[in-house]
Amino acid sequence: MSDDKPLRQSREQQTADISEAQIAVHWQEEDYFAPPAKFIAQANLTDAGIFERFSLDKFPECYREFADLLEWYKRWDKTLDTGNAPFWRWFVGGKLNACSNCVDRHLAKHKNKAAIHFVPEPEQEAVQHITYQELFVRVNEFAALLRDFCGLKTGDRVTLHMPMVAELPITMLACARLGVIHSQVFSGFSGKACADRAVDSESRVLITMDAYYRAGKLLDHKEKADIAVAEAATDGHRIDKVLVWQRYPGKYSSPTKLVEGRDVIINDLLRKYRGKRVEPVPMPAEAALFLMYTSGTTGKPKGCQHSIGGYLAYVTWTSKYIQDIHPEDVYWCMADIGWITGHSYIVYGPLSLGASSVIYEGVPTHPDAGRSWRIAEDLDVNIFHTSPTAIRALRRAGPDEPAKYNHHFKHMTTVGEPIEPAVWKWYFTEVGKGEAVIVDTWWQTENGGFLCSTVPAIHKMKPGSAGPGIPGIHPVIYDDEGKELPAGSGKAGNICIRNPWPGIFQTIWKDPDRFVAQYYARYCKNPKSKDWRDWPYLAGDGAVQAADGYYRILGRIDDVINVAGHRLGTKEIESAALLVAEVAEAAVVPVADEIKGKVPDLYVSLKPGLNASKELANKISAAVVSAIGAIARPREVVIVPDMPKTRSGKIMRRVLAAISSHQDPGDVSTLANPEVVDKIRELVK
Ligand code: PRX
Repeated sequence: MSDDKPLRQSREQQTADISEAQIAVHWQEEDYFAPPAKFIAQANLTDAGIFERFSLDKFPECYREFADLLEWYKRWDKTLDTGNAPFWRWFVGGKLNACSNCVDRHLAKHKNKAAIHFVPEPEQEAVQHITYQELFVRVNEFAALLRDFCGLKTGDRVTLHMPMVAELPITMLACARLGVIHSQVFSGFSGKACADRAVDSESRVLITMDAYYRAGKLLDHKEKADIAVAEAATDGHRIDKVLVWQRYPGKYSSPTKLVEGRDVIINDLLRKYRGKRVEPVPMPAEAALFLMYTSGTTGKPKGCQHSIGGYLAYVTWTSKYIQDIHPEDVYWCMADIGWITGHSYIVYGPLSLGASSVIYEGVPTHPDAGRSWRIAEDLDVNIFHTSPTAIRALRRAGPDEPAKYNHHFKHMTTVGEPIEPAVWKWYFTEVGKGEAVIVDTWWQTENGGFLCSTVPAIHKMKPGSAGPGIPGIHPVIYDDEGKELPAGSGKAGNICIRNPWPGIFQTIWKDPDRFVAQYYARYCKNPKSKDWRDWPYLAGDGAVQAADGYYRILGRIDDVINVAGHRLGTKEIESAALLVAEVAEAAVVPVADEIKGKVPDLYVSLKPGLNASKELANKISAAVVSAIGAIARPREVVIVPDMPKTRSGKIMRRVLAAISSHQDPGDVSTLANPEVVDKIRELVK
């Protein structure tokens, strides 16, 4: 950081005039639930002394225990280097390979064991059980193809736009084997969104699949690759090669034609690489493993860069002790690998531990509300991991369905958004049949792995609260003035983490200033300091800590909406709307939704002389879907005569949010145009 400019920028950015925390649904403190004795008897972590071992005075050396779960070519010399704060470097001097840690090291004992159970959405299609030996062979052959056909080498970036299929972790691990940085884009995102990420990461190779199943339909996915390449070209970036996996090997399932000289069918080309083996590249611990783009306060998504050593150590430890994964467990995380949860807790964490990880292609309630429980029963899944949105959807579709199946979970996770106590209790009683422990894990794309959660065999559970910081994580809540709220005060403030941890992202790809401004500047005690104690990490969530030390997360304090557990920047949606020629101004506000938690409402005003119409609203909505993806589709597009504004011309999103939620917008008399509020309210009725 060259001067203190980012500090000032960030303070402005983070004083949004509407925050989710302000409109968050608050619920009462709940009674505790004890973890089942049967769970405790087998748990990996039962010693409450762990918190002493990970107290702040043992920092950072306590984290050696995390790294010791991995296989190293060369041990690290320094556990944490803070010389270029806040760009922390973990396990400096160490060398390892993420792929060999997730695959090769299990062969001696577990080569015959299923690494991946791939469950296709069509129920008549057989489940594929991929052993560690088979995973080893397929990863090696594909790594050889990436190296020899694509010319990819250590440090290059590759964009993946793949659905939930076994070929996705195979692709990620093949990249990791070569030290190539993968950047997987959620398959539900549009071709344009894929292009933006490929351009930012300067990927010359795009890896995709011809088609995949979603809600009973075989979707054409290849068409998005064509859009991505064309959109990237308009940004002056050339994607040289598009590699296409076939959903049905040997058969091309997309109506979109292949482009000669650019597109290659991987399954055909792989024949040339049969039997090839590629030595894993010993990589520096602080080299990048992957980029994961996420939404923030500006229109442009940011590429969170995760390291090899710190990240892998962190997800391995948390998978073992918070997810309680044992090698014999069958573990199913229903997230999408296109999000951080899938990277950490479908692929890297479980495979690093040699577990069997389930990958389900499609919709949890397809073809009926019992589907998820049939999968769990048939594969004898005993650890289950999903989001409140999925739990709400499963509950609505079939509240009594779980009881009809003979599945038994020992452990269940919820992640991504606050879970209402009533939904938590259904999860506990019906899905878990009262036998499973639940962890409510709070963390973010930037964090690599869990930050707050109960330790499942040590703490009691409290519905609606995530729990304390996990071992090694020391949260603190600051008020807006930078004063620390007393521990357990029950008062809302901005949750931060006092200390760095190995899973924290290293930087925002190509934007180190924004990294500092957004996450560290606000509560930094001294921008010149090289002492980690001066650099609390700002998570961007509002939270309260109860007297028992448990944290309850209230929601974002910035312009980010959490839709179905996925982050969308309001600015991203607004930028997409502004691409429509007729639109003069756009403002997005979050509205509560029974299933998805929050959904966006989009308010627009038109350029002079233009009239509102249903067609125009539809066109604007379609523009948002094409720029980002269906997940960002506004609930309503409201075309307003004018935006409510302050005298300085700022759009008052708080007023719009109140109107969308049918709440009182409060005193609007100080607005430049108070009369518009009633007109908008009329429109929304
Ligand atoms: O607001 C918090 C919410 O999700 C945000 C992070 O979103 P993302 O980076 O997409 O990662 C989601 C999965 C790790 C957070 O800033 N959030 C995440 N977990 C919880 C949560 N809110 C409440 N309770 C949680 N357990």
